[in-house]
Amino acid sequence: MRLDIITLFPELLESPFSASIVKRAIESKLVEIYFHNPRNFSHNKFKQVDDYQYGGGPGMVMMIEPIAKCIKKLQSERNYDEVIYLTPDGETLKQSIANKLSNKTNLILLCGHYKGVDQRIRDHFITQEISIGDFVLSGGELAAAVLCDSIVRLLPGVLGDESSALTDSFQDGVLAPPIYTRPAKYDDMNVPEILLSGNTAKIEEWREEKSIELTKKLRPDLLQD
Ligand code: ADE
Repeated sequence: MRLDIITLFPELLESPFSASIVKRAIESKLVEIYFHNPRNFSHNKFKQVDDYQYGGGPGMVMMIEPIAKCIKKLQSERNYDEVIYLTPDGETLKQSIANKLSNKTNLILLCGHYKGVDQRIRDHFITQEISIGDFVLSGGELAAAVLCDSIVRLLPGVLGDESSALTDSFQDGVLAPPIYTRPAKYDDMNVPEILLSGNTAKIEEWREEKSIELTKKLRPDLLQD
């Protein structure tokens, strides 16, 4: 998979990609991630990338030209499955979206900053708009980091134990069951007996029960879908 991220602030994305699973995925060549700065596509001698909004009002708007040029250049080099804009008014990110995107080959992610991007970019270049929740961040970069992480960990070969992503919360529409590791007893806190029994069928049954119980308690909305 190849991810091309258009951002004015690549440094905001460097650290999330420099550790743990995403770092390993990059090193193993399971994913390639590139940053593109719209500033390098500005024809303006001051490398201007934002301007006041028509009609008046506070806040700067990212200009159409640098972003359009950047997207067109990338699209002239290869085909992209989606051109995604990270924005609080997009579709809320869910595991099902990450699952779908993890099957794609080439994605462009556009991070807005300031008030956002000129609407014509959204109307003519963007194929999908994603939000990571009902709150407003200073820009799309942290949202892009979240989206990339949720996709990259699903790529075949990225997680050590291949089945590990399948047992995550949300993967089958419910929350994951509680997990424990050694020691079996710490002060007076014990690991549930069943998990020490070696009876895999019973353990599976217990985990399913706990998943449903937790989901009913914490996220009953998931069971309604
Ligand atoms: N940009 C600013 N806020 C955002 C959010 N909640 N999700 C995605 N992109 C954003």
